[in-house]
Amino acid sequence: MIPRLGVNIDHVATLRQQRGESYPSVERAARDTLMSGADQITIHLREDRRHIQDADVSPVHQQCTHFGKPLNLEMGCHPEIIDLAINENPEWICLVPEKREERTTEGGLDLSTPEAFKRVFEACEKLKKHLPKTKISLFVEADAATLQASLKIHCDAVEIHTGEYAKDFLKDTDLSHHLKQYQEGARIIRGANRGFHAGHGLTFESVVPLLELGVFSEYNIGHWMMSEAMFVGIAQVTDDMLHLFKKFPLKIK
Ligand code: PXP
Repeated sequence: MIPRLGVNIDHVATLRQQRGESYPSVERAARDTLMSGADQITIHLREDRRHIQDADVSPVHQQCTHFGKPLNLEMGCHPEIIDLAINENPEWICLVPEKREERTTEGGLDLSTPEAFKRVFEACEKLKKHLPKTKISLFVEADAATLQASLKIHCDAVEIHTGEYAKDFLKDTDLSHHLKQYQEGARIIRGANRGFHAGHGLTFESVVPLLELGVFSEYNIGHWMMSEAMFVGIAQVTDDMLHLFKKFPLKIK
């Protein structure tokens, strides 16, 4: 089995919002990415609407439906966004922490205190009640305590925050502690028959040691792919990434 590639197209909207114009089209980005064989489109509807807008969600979802691929809607646990998701009924929802002042998602969900745990727990209960067919992943750090806590929540997968790993890769520092933690994390999560996904900060180069590890069944990659797309186009960068993934079948069932 080959890992799935979810392409995060938020930054097409970043470019559009920067000028307040109607281009570049997020819907066209979704279509071209899916036409090249991407396994999923990921978009993050942030509370501050800095890139993806409410009006983007349905057209992108329609493109996904047209190609028979899932829409993965990343979102915080805010009630307004939860209601919007309930209305849209995406195939996947990835719950993420959200701070207005951060430039991008800076870490995984906090499940360490009773209040923080309850917030995520209740968001998942509400989503599962209204959207029984939608699968939910929790964006979390890979430490054992967080992963064990995630097992007490009604969800289908975790997406491991690879941001620190990706930064260490770019600094050329030792990666072995990250890789060991991912391997151990996979045992906890796969043992409970849940999905083990990865995302954040990954590039064509930094994804390779993770593909070699073979424990992540899905990767969500955005910023690097959209940056590379400026030079080679969205279709080509998607095709290149899919070719890379094909060289690394999963080492888990
Ligand atoms: N996964 C999650 C949960 C994210 O929040 C993001 C960024 O929106 C990504 C994946 C993609 O990260 P990047 O754009 O750095 O590849």
